[in-house]
Amino acid sequence: MKHDIVERKIGLMGVLVILVISIGGLVEIVPLFFSSQVRDPAPGIEPYSAIELVGRDIYIREGCYGCHSQMIRPFRSETERYGHYSLAGESVYDRPFQFGSKRTGPDLARVGGRYADEWHRVHLMNPRDVVPESNMPGYPWLADREVNPRATVERMQALRALGHPYTDEQISTAEKDVSGKTEMQALIAYLQGLGTNLQARR
Ligand code: HEC
Repeated sequence: MKHDIVERKIGLMGVLVILVISIGGLVEIVPLFFSSQVRDPAPGIEPYSAIELVGRDIYIREGCYGCHSQMIRPFRSETERYGHYSLAGESVYDRPFQFGSKRTGPDLARVGGRYADEWHRVHLMNPRDVVPESNMPGYPWLADREVNPRATVERMQALRALGHPYTDEQISTAEKDVSGKTEMQALIAYLQGLGTNLQARR
């Protein structure tokens, strides 16, 4: 009958609920900080190249995550369609991660290499030219805008400060690597890299 007391005193119940949730949270979250599977890059995973990094920022700026997830769940229906389920160690260089939760379009975690660059270009200009029933918007302006090489170097330096292992050489050539490239090219480079680095895929 001690439970009666808890049921009658809403304040006490609140405190106990918080206590139970905190313990549950600690048990689930704290071990992850010590698990190398979660903290360290999975085999083959490298930081994004300069051009991919620019493309990733465009992906975020344009809100592609509003319709596309990058998280293949370990269900047969997903692994048959998209490939090996996503591993935590694949996202260690994603700040912020792009798991997403809305799938108006397909998951993009392993879209790299599935189509030719030219397919992506046409698709991003006007998706209905290649997929007539598509309701994805077009992004034609990306083809007219050039990327900012200086900003790319600064981004890489910022990420290195956070622990991404960029070499001096990668940073010093970044400006040259991206100069003269359009935002469209950068976004396509990013898409073509998605999911291609993980070794020992199915
Ligand atoms: C309003 C929702 C919406 C937004 C926003 C959106 N997409 Fe899509 N996307 C879709 C739909 C629906 C499809 C499936 C039909 C098609 O291929 O066009 C799709 C398909 C794709 C595909 C082909 C995937 C495959 O496996 O066939 C790629 C790549 C893609 N989108 C990239 C992007 C990028 C990059 C952006 C941001 C610049 C973006 N999408 C924004 C809805 C969206």
